[in-house]
Amino acid sequence: MNLEKRWWKESVVYQIYPRSFKDSNGDGIGDLKGITEKLDYLKELGIDVIWLSPVYQSPNDDNGYDISDYRSIMADFGTMQDFDEMLAAAHERGIKILMDLVVNHTSDEHPWFVESRKSKDNPYRDYYIWRDGKDGHEPNNWGSCFSGSAWKYDEQTQMYFLHLFSKKQPDLNWDNPIVRDEVFDMMNWWLDKGIDGFRMDVISLISKNPDFPDGIPGINGYASFNEPANGPHVHEYIQEMREKVLNRTDNMTVGECSGVTLEEAKKYASSDGKELNMVFQFEHMDVDADEGNKWTDKKMDLRDLKEVMTRWEKGLEDIAWNSLFWNNHDQPRVVSRFGSDQKEYREISAKMLATCLHMMQGTPYIYQGEELGMTNIHFDTIDDYRDLDSINAYHELIEQGVYTKEEMLKFLSMKSRDNARTPFQWDDSKNAGFSDGTPWIKVNPNYAEINAKEQVGRSDSVFSYYQKLIRLRKEHDIVVYGTYDLLLPDSKEIYAYTRTLGEEKLLVVCNFYEKEAAFSVPEEFKDAECLIKNYVDDNWGSEGKLRPYETFVLKIS
Ligand code: GLC
Ligand code: CA
Repeated sequence: MNLEKRWWKESVVYQIYPRSFKDSNGDGIGDLKGITEKLDYLKELGIDVIWLSPVYQSPNDDNGYDISDYRSIMADFGTMQDFDEMLAAAHERGIKILMDLVVNHTSDEHPWFVESRKSKDNPYRDYYIWRDGKDGHEPNNWGSCFSGSAWKYDEQTQMYFLHLFSKKQPDLNWDNPIVRDEVFDMMNWWLDKGIDGFRMDVISLISKNPDFPDGIPGINGYASFNEPANGPHVHEYIQEMREKVLNRTDNMTVGECSGVTLEEAKKYASSDGKELNMVFQFEHMDVDADEGNKWTDKKMDLRDLKEVMTRWEKGLEDIAWNSLFWNNHDQPRVVSRFGSDQKEYREISAKMLATCLHMMQGTPYIYQGEELGMTNIHFDTIDDYRDLDSINAYHELIEQGVYTKEEMLKFLSMKSRDNARTPFQWDDSKNAGFSDGTPWIKVNPNYAEINAKEQVGRSDSVFSYYQKLIRLRKEHDIVVYGTYDLLLPDSKEIYAYTRTLGEEKLLVVCNFYEKEAAFSVPEEFKDAECLIKNYVDDNWGSEGKLRPYETFVLKIS
């Protein structure tokens, strides 16, 4: 079934976080006109689809993931006319646009919630999840993703409402059919505008167990915000969405499924086409976490990463489609995380990581700046952070005595979402060419060295390497459709695997570390063609070893 050809299997997606991409009017905030200006850059990179992080009207408690009007554009980002122009300009270049669909929750400033909290008999009351307290406490021990309880007491009606994210992001009540129809109407409105699909924010969380059972408490005393994941009606609701919305056009859908298991993913992304095209899973983002707690400096063990990636590759084979990512706006920069951001190894390790991911089966996602090898930021004071997740965790865990200030600053510099959100580095002029004004968040000081202007056209740059990886996907069906098999599962240093399609076979080899690693090319690949490699010479695979962060891909047919 994975051999069934679909455009979204053959595409490479590029994620834009608009606030940090390109500011066109000097107010320090990236915007839609800025994106339109830079479409030729993306065309040159060769991507097929843009996933646009939210651009809807929002009070910006969580940078646009708290929406107060789904049918208008945030003033900071421009106007609906700017959006229409951007969409048309993208389509002219053969680039498709995926909208971020954030419908597990709205902003508390959305008119639905403003009404809902007014009285118990307000017609909008059941649009959200209201519960009485239990013995003067919250209805259960669920935690918010952004620290503290997931319940907020509202004086007006003396009940609690549920917010799995911030207090300004109340959860919608998907069990109410009117809510579902409101969401479906809104989605149809965007499809009618001509957008090409949706990335669905935490869609795995929309159906809550009506008993609201307690979960196992984590380091701050609350159960994970993922507690309600894959709830009782989630598949039913997504199937309804497919019938009422998605079946109308040939679109692409990817569900962000926090807390998803392989078994659940087979349902969300089943090739039978009843639900979504693919999901984002997060198990590989937990390999350097401590039992789900990301605030740690634990190093990943490569064997864990291989185990997770392989379980998903093999588990979904012929059943559902994978999505592939190292980075997004919620994750630190992969070159700093799983590679090396030291000058000597930055480019070579960025290329190795890109190869490892892009040669797997699934649709690859590139997060803005990843194609330049952009790195983590390393702020040394909490005042420089803008992300509410980082700021809340810092205060909560220090107050509770779980970590010291120094520890938290260290963990933030490794894991904060702001690492991904610093302005895109266009060139070596003021503010990295991102803005003429004062950027809303500090620019990474390494922009003089790492920027698009320096890399576009330089044949051995990270950018050129991504171009080539994307091209290989267009030229070789095996990159898209070949079957994946892991080699050397016990190696602590090397990630190697094959892809097979008919008579053709690829060998992908990656040394994940600075140390040389013993490796000899298997006999059947001795006369193979080398499709891509990250050392300029042709000594790949000779001398029975891999050099620091070395990678190459061989093909036989
Ligand atoms: C998703 C988004 C994240 C946001 C959260 C709440 O995980 O990717 O950025 O904070 O949902 O909408
Ligand atoms: Ca602007």
